[in-house]
Amino acid sequence: MKLTVDNVSYSYRTKYQTVNAVKEVSCAFESGSFYALIGKSGSGKSTLLSMLAGLETPESGSVFIDGADLKALDVDRYRCETASVIYQNFNLFPLLTVLENVMYPMLLQKKPKADAEKRALETLERVGLGESYSRRLPAMLSGGEQQRVAIARALATDADVILADEPTGNLDGENTENIIGLLGSLAHEDGRCVVVITHDPNVAQAADSIFRMDSGRLENGEAE
Ligand SMILES: Nc1ncnc2c1ncn2[C@@H]1O[C@H](COP(=O)(O)OP(=O)(O)OP(=O)(O)O)[C@@H](O)[C@H]1O
Ligand SMILES: [Mg+2]
Repeated sequence: MKLTVDNVSYSYRTKYQTVNAVKEVSCAFESGSFYALIGKSGSGKSTLLSMLAGLETPESGSVFIDGADLKALDVDRYRCETASVIYQNFNLFPLLTVLENVMYPMLLQKKPKADAEKRALETLERVGLGESYSRRLPAMLSGGEQQRVAIARALATDADVILADEPTGNLDGENTENIIGLLGSLAHEDGRCVVVITHDPNVAQAADSIFRMDSGRLENGEAE
């Protein structure tokens, strides 16, 4: 599986100004590798990730999954079956329990409920949230615990592509280590393609390749 970004640009246009958030970016991400996307605040990282996730359409250029342009695909299906996103602000469903949040994408994929529940509990355990968390609502958790629920929700599906926006932003050292290990094993053992935006040098250091963004441009299209 290969995700290819070909000369992609994106601008936010408001009545008063245009922000050129991503400028002529080209790069590629493959199965079995863990990539870090780094760069200053406002450099365009989340915007690029949104296009990889099919949430935004490039203004020019294209994103291809195994040679197929996302523009020509059923993007809802791509998001349901191929690409899982861990958002910067978690985006948990506030009225669903922890367990239901993690089960949700699997139910969308029509996985039987009992299987989804089993898998959700296993994945929550993997991110350090035991059974006692499963019936709570997100509001009853700390920021770091909510972040781990969001990570579990993305991991529980068999998505080939995991896209994470600052997944360790709210975690302490021990939990960060745990999540770094998990992201690495998703790439190296499960053979998934893992792309992580991070400001944390420890996370970036653990990645196989580092892409750096500066003012909307990718400094090293071929990665370090
Ligand atoms: N909805 C929006 N409307 C207008 N401008 C936006 C919008 N979202 C982002 N921008 C602008 O686009 C640029 C890139 O933003 P983006 O969120 O991609 O940066 P980032 O690298 O993810 O930053 P951070 O590390 O702070 O999350 C910034 O200048 C930002 O102000
Ligand atoms: Mg961002």
